[in-house]
Amino acid sequence: MCIIEITSNLHFCHQTGKTECTKHCLQYLANVAGSGNGNVETRILLSNPILESFGNAKTLRNNNSSRFGKYLEIFFNHRFEIGGGQNTNYLLEKSRVVIRGEGERSYHIFYQMVTGLEPKLRRFLELEYNPSSYFYLSQSNSLTIDGVNDVEEFNGVLSAMYELGFSQDEMNEIWKLLSALLHLGNISFVETGDRRCEPGNDAAVEAASKLLMIDPFALVRGITVRVMHTKGQPNVDITLGVSEAEAQRDSISKHIYYRLFDLLVNRVNQAIGISNECIQGRTIGILDIFGFEIFDSNSFEQLCINYTNEKLQQNFNEHTFKLEEEVYKKEKIQYSHVFYIDNTPVLNLIEGRPTGVLSLIDEELRVPAGSDRGFSQKLQNYHRDKPEVFSSAPANSDFFMIHHYAGSVIYDPEGWVVKNRDRLNEDALEMIYTTQSQFMRILFPQNDANSAEATKKKGLGLKFKVSCHKARIILETEFTLQSIEFQLTCK
Ligand SMILES: Nc1ncnc2c1ncn2[C@@H]1O[C@H](COP(=O)(O)OP(=O)(O)O)[C@@H](O)[C@H]1O
Ligand SMILES: [Mg+2]
Repeated sequence: MCIIEITSNLHFCHQTGKTECTKHCLQYLANVAGSGNGNVETRILLSNPILESFGNAKTLRNNNSSRFGKYLEIFFNHRFEIGGGQNTNYLLEKSRVVIRGEGERSYHIFYQMVTGLEPKLRRFLELEYNPSSYFYLSQSNSLTIDGVNDVEEFNGVLSAMYELGFSQDEMNEIWKLLSALLHLGNISFVETGDRRCEPGNDAAVEAASKLLMIDPFALVRGITVRVMHTKGQPNVDITLGVSEAEAQRDSISKHIYYRLFDLLVNRVNQAIGISNECIQGRTIGILDIFGFEIFDSNSFEQLCINYTNEKLQQNFNEHTFKLEEEVYKKEKIQYSHVFYIDNTPVLNLIEGRPTGVLSLIDEELRVPAGSDRGFSQKLQNYHRDKPEVFSSAPANSDFFMIHHYAGSVIYDPEGWVVKNRDRLNEDALEMIYTTQSQFMRILFPQNDANSAEATKKKGLGLKFKVSCHKARIILETEFTLQSIEFQLTCK
């Protein structure tokens, strides 16, 4: 059993070639351990363009930046041939669907579909040829990538999907949903009174409602009204203002895309799945995550990404320095001690209980009137005396700074409580449950109420911590057997 961990540990560590490196590793494995039957290694290779199309995007620094973490496990049979694979995805950056930095793009698939889809289907989806027709795509002023032809890319994705056994119906459902999101984004709102608004363009409402198979009246109500439930009292409608309705619209779009991405990963896994011949434990895992990031404004997503990198760095420290030194000592080999920064204090700051960042942001879900500011003030009160890992930010009393192993990052806590809650509110869910679309019903099963309950108890941050720990347990157990690490250096 062996694991290949592709991460980078220097400042600004995106675009150091991690993803390209995983592809080379995979290609190499396919060449040396191709299966005799079924061509499963080809299917595993083909899963890449599909997942990249839906999970990668152009950022300022990388035209094909991975916006999700991926752990691909490859299984072998008794002849040491590839017998199947399994992808696990971590934390897709769903905010990118509705907003992103100037000069960046949303996920590739939107631009590929808009420019590449065949005319008959496009008429049904009411799609324009130009991505600039869609607010979700045009707002960041970047529609194309130099040297990349989105139509050709789309054809590549289509043929990969065919090869992996996606049916035409299944693919049409996906295009329908993506188009619905673009129409949804085009619904603007006009103020009709104090904290009250209505859609400014009926065409976008009608197109979105047709494709989501939700009655237009229900769709608009789900976006512009919140229902207040009080025990023993009749429900009361609370109308929303323009910015609140926009936020509700965007929240719906993000969640739909997020679930679509999960479904896609599961669907790809089915297609590359493990054959009966695979031997338990005979696997190679390739972990490719997003690099450590420092943006001008850093929010909850960056904290989660940077936390993952801290975890992996700790793993790297332990196995590359501590354990290696032990082996050298045991075998009485002369060595000179390599200095490295132990990042345990920063990890304690983030994941420690009960006063770590993740615990405190979760507490705000449970306390009455939990707020971003309340979270930040508590965090600062608990940790102000730890200058080696934490400081307040001079410019704004709500901001705080974490001194990560790879650099100091100022975090802006605005919106963290909502992001950590990570769920659609009941009104939006109720609206979605009225859909007549079978595909939407698969994405949003009615027993979701259970998961909404679960979310009240544990937010996104702590769920993320659990998945980080799981990944680390995999790393721990597998490293003890054999390890290959590719550490990439920024040139
Ligand atoms: N081995 C390589 N061969 C050619 N181009 C590469 C290679 N590695 C990286 N690149 C270029 O750098 C860009 C960023 O690489 P990528 O693997 O996406 O970075 P990361 O995953 O570390 O953010 C790629 O889009 C590609 O243009
Ligand atoms: Mg990458």
